Amino acid sequence: MNTRLQRYKVWDRTTRVFHWINAATVIALIAIGILILNTDILGIKGEAKILLKSVHVYIGYVFVLNLVWRLIWAFMGSHYARWRQILPLGKNYLTSLKRYLLNSGNERPYLGHNPVARLIISLFFLLLSLQAATGLILAGTDLYMPPLGGYFSEWVTEGDQARLNQLKPGDKSQVVDSAYKEMRSFRKPVITIHIYGFYTLLILVFTHVLGVIITEIREKNGLISAMIIGEKVLDDTHQDE
Ligand code: HEM
Repeated sequence: MNTRLQRYKVWDRTTRVFHWINAATVIALIAIGILILNTDILGIKGEAKILLKSVHVYIGYVFVLNLVWRLIWAFMGSHYARWRQILPLGKNYLTSLKRYLLNSGNERPYLGHNPVARLIISLFFLLLSLQAATGLILAGTDLYMPPLGGYFSEWVTEGDQARLNQLKPGDKSQVVDSAYKEMRSFRKPVITIHIYGFYTLLILVFTHVLGVIITEIREKNGLISAMIIGEKVLDDTHQDE
């Protein structure tokens, strides 16, 4: 068959900027998360531990804002940035997934996400949203940082103004013991989800990077550079959906 290579505009600028800010912040959050998990072994305590967690939260804010903007952009962005091109839904999805898996290696390349990538990216959005929500709660319970810090500091001091004025992250001298215990039991499942989310994310990041490398080698259509310049190079036998 006579095929012609052509450049196709696939990822818009917002999607590309989101992708790289997301990659950078997730890597930083994972790296600092590993340090937080191992503070005892590393001998990090007191002020240094609070600082480490605060840096994690500040990077977390950038990560959350970037993520929220992308979730909104999926309603209004260009064709390939939209939910319809991402979510593993629609009447043809299962058929195309089966075809993609059974024909692996011989499938015509996709202009947007292939069916397996749609599944992985949807799981990513779900998991990242879960990390964002649990992280924001933890920032409030542990460090009394926004957006929920005010609520949790009222809780542990039972609204006592004198205690509130003196309350500092990590310092238990101003908390009411019973209220603090209640807050800690509320927090327990949240930190558990945050930690298991972290482990699942490690697996997903690995799968994503491996998937991109395999697809790039197999299809040679500039998948990685497309996330930088926005364009894929394909012949005219590609698939659109
Ligand atoms: C990709 C996203 C994220 C990953 C992979 C991640 C990972 C982790 C890990 C592994 C820990 C250590 C758990 C522990 O032993 O305490 C941690 C702790 C923490 N994370 Fe995240 N995190 C993410 C996002 C966020 C966000 C968005 C925030 C808030 C804005 C946040 C706030 C916190 C806080 C406050 C802690 C300390 C909890 C404690 O007191 O131990 N995280 N995170």
